[in-house]
Amino acid sequence: MRRPFIAGNWKLHKTLAESRDLAQQLFVGTADVKDRDIVIAPVFTALAAVNQVVGDTHIGLAAQNCYPADQGAFTGEVSPAQLKDAGCGYVIIGHSERRQLFSETDEFINQKVLKCLETGLNPILCIGETLEERETDQMLEVLTRQVKGGLAGLTAEQMERIVIAYEPVWAIGTGKTATDEQAQEAHSFIRGLVQGLFTPEVAAAVRILYGGSVKPGNVDGLMAQDDIDGALVGGASLNAEDFLRIIKFQS
Ligand code: 13P
Repeated sequence: MRRPFIAGNWKLHKTLAESRDLAQQLFVGTADVKDRDIVIAPVFTALAAVNQVVGDTHIGLAAQNCYPADQGAFTGEVSPAQLKDAGCGYVIIGHSERRQLFSETDEFINQKVLKCLETGLNPILCIGETLEERETDQMLEVLTRQVKGGLAGLTAEQMERIVIAYEPVWAIGTGKTATDEQAQEAHSFIRGLVQGLFTPEVAAAVRILYGGSVKPGNVDGLMAQDDIDGALVGGASLNAEDFLRIIKFQS
């Protein structure tokens, strides 16, 4: 069985003190949670400080982005090697906000995936269609392009280190969650894509997270779906009580 994976994407929120404080509350509040992976993704400047709280504990640390080079003249960027040095085990790659606001392409996202794998970091690859794409029946085509593009050139062995996050853009930060059925349909399709690209074993093992207005009130229904293996949570991960309830979903 796939081990559940619950991640909090803090986006552009929280000071150092607030980040440390939330990490500490999550650490204490999940002391008895052993059967699922828990990961938090603070802003770059808070990674090292949060690592002092959760490093070498059951809570994993993720960055929200990276640049696909080890070092060099890339002003304003951060490399996977530096993220590893700061304590990260994971990197969120290809979030829809980066695709939309910073024009990231599948090719660029693929370079980041490959560089993270080479560096020993586990990518959380985000994919998802916009409302317009869904309403004009392009959803499957978009997901296919994003999965194939993002995972191009990976071996089956490397694929075992990937976590995929399906985040329909229309559900992010809108309070409008995909229904359990809509999410399951997309997840099952994505797993089929992975099977076509790799092997049935790899597809059966890959964890596919749902993201988009996951809240304490809807997490249980989502997590009860066959192909939903976890959640990538934005807004509700900024509050310890809500995120702890999501981590402790019941299905
Ligand atoms: P919300 O949970 O705020 O909708 O954000 C989802 C998301 O983008 C997580 O990466």
